[in-house]
Amino acid sequence: MGKGSFWLGIVGGLVLAGLIFVASPYIGIFDMTATGKPNILDWWGGTNLHTIVERKAVEENIPADASVAGGIEHYASTCLLCHGAPETPRRPWAESMLPQPPELWKEDAQHMSDGGIYYIVDNGIRMTGMPAFGPDHSDDEIWNLVATVRQLETLSAEQRQHLTQAAQSGGHGHGQGGEEDHHNSDMDNDSQHEHTDNHEHQ
Ligand code: HEC
Repeated sequence: MGKGSFWLGIVGGLVLAGLIFVASPYIGIFDMTATGKPNILDWWGGTNLHTIVERKAVEENIPADASVAGGIEHYASTCLLCHGAPETPRRPWAESMLPQPPELWKEDAQHMSDGGIYYIVDNGIRMTGMPAFGPDHSDDEIWNLVATVRQLETLSAEQRQHLTQAAQSGGHGHGQGGEEDHHNSDMDNDSQHEHTDNHEHQ
């Protein structure tokens, strides 16, 4: 085999691999359902995320003025539904997401740097359901959330109770009156907003 055909083989192989990669979404090779098993896309996305978070995470620790007191309310209304807390299970539908929202007090999340957690809460993770909170929250609010994520296992009794109550009252807010309504999640408030905007039935 001459040198020429050796290189031709390599280039041909690369072109073929590229074509298969480009064609794969049109052929529908990879399962995209949340009920399916994790496949190469999950590996690809997860590894990619890990690399990028390591590279881009802000090199900053939680600022001294960020606190759980400042973040707990927000965690209860927004993160709890998906991520839960040590004494508060996430919503049943969150169990049926793929990837599942991780339990943030466990090792995977706690092994991340403060800046890594900040980066994820700020920017979200595409194709996973993890929203970006940066666009409509201040830096301070996000650091308060990072502080809360760090302390989920050492919350005060009062803070733990706050989460349990929020889980009981939030999530199914429609038609549920009463004082507890302010605990409803951002998501629910958004949908209520849509309902009030829609006057067609009046
Ligand atoms: C709609 C559901 C949903 C909501 C709401 C949500 N998350 Fe997530 N979050 C996810 C999913 C799903 C992942 C996993 C993504 C992955 O595996 O790459 C995730 C991942 C994360 C991670 C990375 C953890 C790790 O171990 O890699 C952090 C940190 C995080 N979320 C924090 C938050 C905070 C703080 C809030 C509230 C401000 C929040 N999330 C709200 C679904 C959600």
